[in-house]
Amino acid sequence: MSLRRAKITAVSHYLPERRITNKDLEKIVDTSDEWIVERTGIRERRIVEKGQATSDIAAAAAKRLCEKRDLDPAELDLIIVATVTPDMFFPSSACLVQTKLGAKKAWGFDLSGACSGFVYALATAAQFVSTGTHNKVLVIGADVMTSIIDFRDRSTCVLFGDGAGAVLVEPALDGECGIIDHILRSDGSGGRFLYMPGGGSLHPANAETVEKKMHYVHQDGKNVFKFAVRGMVDISQELLTRHGLTPKDLKLYIPHQANLRIIRAAVEKMNLDESQVAVNIDRYANTTAGTIPICLAEAAESKQINRNDLILMASFGAGFTSGSLLLRWEI
Ligand code: UT7
Repeated sequence: MSLRRAKITAVSHYLPERRITNKDLEKIVDTSDEWIVERTGIRERRIVEKGQATSDIAAAAAKRLCEKRDLDPAELDLIIVATVTPDMFFPSSACLVQTKLGAKKAWGFDLSGACSGFVYALATAAQFVSTGTHNKVLVIGADVMTSIIDFRDRSTCVLFGDGAGAVLVEPALDGECGIIDHILRSDGSGGRFLYMPGGGSLHPANAETVEKKMHYVHQDGKNVFKFAVRGMVDISQELLTRHGLTPKDLKLYIPHQANLRIIRAAVEKMNLDESQVAVNIDRYANTTAGTIPICLAEAAESKQINRNDLILMASFGAGFTSGSLLLRWEI
């Protein structure tokens, strides 16, 4: 079977209107704008309205994408939703998005890769397109992190926000590069540093799990921080080296947005110039699967990236999971 190349043909994002600033959080927990900005780079984040779930913000991003590309959702073959905050265990958020969009022909599934979810999903979509079995794959990274955050825990509630980004993956034309390569990794031994223990088959939801706050994010921030920098840098450099490239060849490096200090440390180790690096953590905080496609959408909209530019995405998150993906922008 001869493989074909896959490329991104459209990108879009959706962020809820409502903002929570650091000053707002000062009124809820013992924190300060100064601490949050200095330790994380975050100034504000978005939060959904009551009743608005992951499939809603995912579908909103996807609708914008279809409008931009002038695409009838009925033409979609597959929908992959990367998320750790699905509307519910089942049906999948992909099924809910499918019906909200009217993507009658598409099948779909959710992918649980935490902060690497979008990179995992994009690499997966590219395989379906490369083999020739699918022509139009919608990949969405979406999370409503505020649904699993304890707003009484200052060590986590200041870090996260809600948001979604979406891309369309289609076959590349002759002579186009599109999605070039990826590295995906998991290291389950890191699972104990970032997790949500309650509500699954190990600790099914009951009064005790709720009382023990097991349905919230738990994180050993220091340990995650340590692994995140090394993890992102290693897979970024490995992917560049594999293709005889150096960081200088990149138009844009899109790191997962978890902490500005993590981004800066990675950028310094890679010898990248600040102008090559996508940063929006100050405005949206960590939207988990949403960070990378939201950065990509903003870069495309502002024309920071143009046809033929080389882009490298890199993520690190719960699992531990990590992923890097190299592509040439073909829009
Ligand atoms: O996307 C998923 C992957 N996640 C990550 O990549 C997150 C990685 N980790 C981090 O970003 C950082 O570790 C944090 C931002 C979570 C924490 O920063 P830190 O520099 O590691 O701070 P720390 O946890 O060591 O806490 C330092 C101090 C502590 O007080 P003491 O013990 O020194 O008196 C904390 O209690 O800061 C205190 N603290 C706060 N103070 C004000 C922790 N959270 C807050 C807060 N406001 N929100």
